[in-house]
Amino acid sequence: MKKSIQVGIIMGSDSDLGVMSEAATLLEEFGVGCEVAVTSAHRSPNLAHKYVTNARKRGLQVIIAGAGGAAHLAGVAASLTTLPVIGIPVKAKSLDGLDSLLSTVGMPPGVPVATVGINAAKNAGLLAVQILALSDKDLEKKLVAYKTKMESDIEAKNDKLSKLGFKKYLEK
Ligand code: RP5
Repeated sequence: MKKSIQVGIIMGSDSDLGVMSEAATLLEEFGVGCEVAVTSAHRSPNLAHKYVTNARKRGLQVIIAGAGGAAHLAGVAASLTTLPVIGIPVKAKSLDGLDSLLSTVGMPPGVPVATVGINAAKNAGLLAVQILALSDKDLEKKLVAYKTKMESDIEAKNDKLSKLGFKKYLEK
C-alpha cells in the first residue's frame, strides 16, 4: 500500500536541496511519507501560494519550509495555512546564514514559524515526527527508541574515553 504523504518539504531553490534533503531522509527513517518541492516565495509566489493553500486538503499535516538570504518562504507559508510550519534558515552565499535565520525566525505575533537552527534540517524532520507522534503511538515508540539509542551512543563514547584516556581518544 502506498504511504500517505503527511509532510510537505518546500524550499526556495533547488540549491537548498542538499540541506533540505536531510529532513526528508530523517522522515524516511521514521517511515513518514513526505514530498519535496521547490516553491520560491519570491520567484514563484503563485506556486508557493497554491501549494500551501492546498496542503491541508491534500492531507498534509506539517509543512517544513527552508530558504536562504531574504528567507520569507516559511513565513509566507505560515500566513496561508493553519498547519504547523517549521522553518529552516538555509545558509546562503553571504552572512553565514544569519540573514536567513533572522528572516525566518522574526515572525509577528499571530503567525508562528517553529524555526530550527541554520541548516538544521534533521531537527526540522524530528520536530515534524514529534508533532505527528502526538496522535500516532507507533511513531511515539520509534521516538523513544531514537532517544534511547542517542543515550547509549554517548555511554559507549564515555566507556571508550575512560578506557583510552582523552589523548588516545583524540588520536583515534
Ligand atoms: C533563496 O535564495 C533560496 O532559498 C536560496 O537559498 C537562495 C539562492 O538561490 P539560488 O540563486 O541558488 O537559486 O531564495
